[in-house]
Amino acid sequence: MQLLHTVADLRAALKGESETAFVPTMGNLHTGHIALVQQARRQGRPVVASLFVNPLQFGAGEDFERYPRTLVADCAQLEPAGCDLVFAPDVREMYPEPQTFTVIPPLADELCGAHRPGHFAGVATVVLKLFNMVQPRYAVFGKKDYQQLFLLKGLVRQFNLPITVLEGETVRAEDGLALSSRNGFLSPEERAEAPRLYRLLKQICARLGAGETDFAALEAVAAQELAHHGWEVDYVSIRSRRTLLAPAAGERDWVALAAARLGRTRLIDNLEAGAASVCE
Ligand code: PAF
Repeated sequence: MQLLHTVADLRAALKGESETAFVPTMGNLHTGHIALVQQARRQGRPVVASLFVNPLQFGAGEDFERYPRTLVADCAQLEPAGCDLVFAPDVREMYPEPQTFTVIPPLADELCGAHRPGHFAGVATVVLKLFNMVQPRYAVFGKKDYQQLFLLKGLVRQFNLPITVLEGETVRAEDGLALSSRNGFLSPEERAEAPRLYRLLKQICARLGAGETDFAALEAVAAQELAHHGWEVDYVSIRSRRTLLAPAAGERDWVALAAARLGRTRLIDNLEAGAASVCE
């Protein structure tokens, strides 16, 4: 496995390699990331992963400074997972000039975007730059970051990029908590409380499956339950899977999404719901 830090070295290493499968990450890898790498591997193409904590997608007062940088441990996981090349640029390599932002749709200001202004512009900008640097055939993103995945699929369409976006299923701990690089920030008490987020999404999913259609009431009950157990809730929202906007009348392919803080740690999760969903 090669470890490269500059765009020039990356380009030289990928010369003539037009069919890579790419997994962009911010490092501090866990089993969920490794599942994405394995999914990339199954495309039968050389696998590239990036490790870059992107300052553009962190707002003032967020956890950019304390976000763990774990290059050596990350590489030790990537190599046995079948990664061929790791690209780990520093901030100057990624943003040599005052950065420009990618144009993104209004949906980027909803859900997580409403609570993290500029976040998705930062994500879209770095991913578009990484796509230009790596020029992959496939790119794999996890469904845990459902809104990010939705917006990045839109970005690929919007800019006619010749890239197929593959969706990685959310990997969960035994108690249901979605794996996240931020779970390591939780105290033991918070870690014990954290699976409630998933349990509430499962309840919403089951009730939608049973025919309940009062979305606002379902969202409010879950938000109150979280608040009652000490969470600071950003949102609980039932959306259309097709548009990620409020579901249209008669639409039955939903996704329930939630974001809330336990102490200083912001957790997000989602669950697809509807006639054909199994609520897991
Ligand atoms: O999901 C992430 O880890 C990041 O948002 C991404 C896609 C690597 C961009 O920095």
